[in-house]
Amino acid sequence: MRKIRIAIDGPASSGKSTVVKILAKELGYTYLDTGAMYRTATYLALRAGLKGHQVSDILALIDQYPIGFGLAEDGTQTVFAGDEDITLAIRQNDVTANVSWVSALAEVREKLVAEQQRIARDGGIIMDGRDIGTVVLPDAELKVFLVASVEERAERRYKENIEKGIPADLNQLKQEIAERDYKDSTRAVSPLKPADDAIHFDTTGVSIEGVVAFISKKVAEILDKD
Ligand code: DC
Repeated sequence: MRKIRIAIDGPASSGKSTVVKILAKELGYTYLDTGAMYRTATYLALRAGLKGHQVSDILALIDQYPIGFGLAEDGTQTVFAGDEDITLAIRQNDVTANVSWVSALAEVREKLVAEQQRIARDGGIIMDGRDIGTVVLPDAELKVFLVASVEERAERRYKENIEKGIPADLNQLKQEIAERDYKDSTRAVSPLKPADDAIHFDTTGVSIEGVVAFISKKVAEILDKD
């Protein structure tokens, strides 16, 4: 059966990564969490004490500690910078608070987008991010733009953080999500926005299974046409 490319975009905590992981497993596709790549670049920049004007140093760190993905024993995805497992480190609040400025650097985006396109070359890929349908895979066979209310997204992130043992405050999360939405949507380079041909889906009040079923149906419709 033909293997397609699927682009799932949307704001922070719109349910993208949970849904995409399930779909990748169901379809036997590669899953690429592009947010984890920007988080890795941010982690490396912060660890070295770098600021926005030191972009060539940030690029050098990405070369020195290549971003990699692995599988933990429980089947969840792990993230590496070189040999170092940074799966948990990239979800900490300092990385989340700084990822917007790092991901707004055009040179960083250029480098990571090239890597993402290389990984997607053979199809059979489902990617989640902010600019997948618009920039990374503009000719993806299926593009979905997921949204959800700020309140619901803050509650989801709150539960996630507590489960991971990361300190969380619901009101602060609401504020941070709204701020990150604003920064991601208004930045000059590849802002968060739906592709003209993306299917919009509001996941507020919809279960994970509901979102998975919606996208699975769209995939089946595309493959049935062959
Ligand atoms: O999906 P996430 O919350 O882990 O993403 C972290 C940040 O990375 C997000 O605030 C914006 C940035 N990002 C991006 O600019 N482009 C992408 N394709 C994915 C994420």
